[in-house]
Amino acid sequence: MNVTIKTPEEIEKMRVAGRLAAEVLEMIEPYVQPGVTTGELNQICHDHITQTQAATPAPLNYRGFPKSICTSVNHVICHGIPEDGKRLKKGDIVNIDITVIKDGYHGDTSKMFYVGEPSILARRLTEFTQQALYAAIDLVRPGERLSSIGKAIQKMADKERFSVVQEYCGHGIGRVFHEDPQVLHYDGYTPRSDLVLAPGMCFTIEPMINAGKRHCKTLRDGWTVVTKDHSLSAQWEHTLLVTESGVEVLTRRSEEPFS
Ligand code: MF3
Ligand code: CO
Ligand code: CO
Repeated sequence: MNVTIKTPEEIEKMRVAGRLAAEVLEMIEPYVQPGVTTGELNQICHDHITQTQAATPAPLNYRGFPKSICTSVNHVICHGIPEDGKRLKKGDIVNIDITVIKDGYHGDTSKMFYVGEPSILARRLTEFTQQALYAAIDLVRPGERLSSIGKAIQKMADKERFSVVQEYCGHGIGRVFHEDPQVLHYDGYTPRSDLVLAPGMCFTIEPMINAGKRHCKTLRDGWTVVTKDHSLSAQWEHTLLVTESGVEVLTRRSEEPFS
């Protein structure tokens, strides 16, 4: 495992990239309405990132991904491809996942949006998943073990009888989009070398929680990951910095509570 410790100069660039990614989610909110297509949302975000922010959307052409953002609707767990033919309708829930590159550094964040009024289950799953992310963020500080994150999220999900996706993890982030360490969201095998968090580490936490079983499958497009049982899935993501005293949420939006 090769976990990088960011220098003060790199941390400043991570702050800028994180803030830009968060701003895209704030910018797109009013457009997420019944009747909009995920292709239109992609175009608006792409234009904002490239023109207003003078930044680069990291997903575009990443390992062949064809668009600038991911839009994952209802039973899509992650990596949904925006499409001009995919119109959002009342009652949908959608995750929009934004990663920008600015000055060589990545900021990666996602949130759920309601399209009109969600069902009771959709709201419960969405709110739960955000609370699971927040509880995990609360654990982050120097000296804490990386595995605590997954253990905490799994325990919370078990209580609600929701399930935690295992195939996709949080990740170290910096000059590289996905770098060490892998951040498990479930209580998995803990190696003896369970990472001890230290100031200057940057990584994401991005739990994917299903209302039904945890199992997933990838569609023929090679990207779209869906729940095998077609149950609803939710995801929230932040990019974090371990500080001397705890954690800084680099992708914090103004509506959020962290200091
Ligand atoms: N933003 C996603 C993550 O949280 C990765 C998307 S990769 C893409 O790690 F190619 F699908 F865009
Ligand atoms: Co990520
Ligand atoms: Co992401």
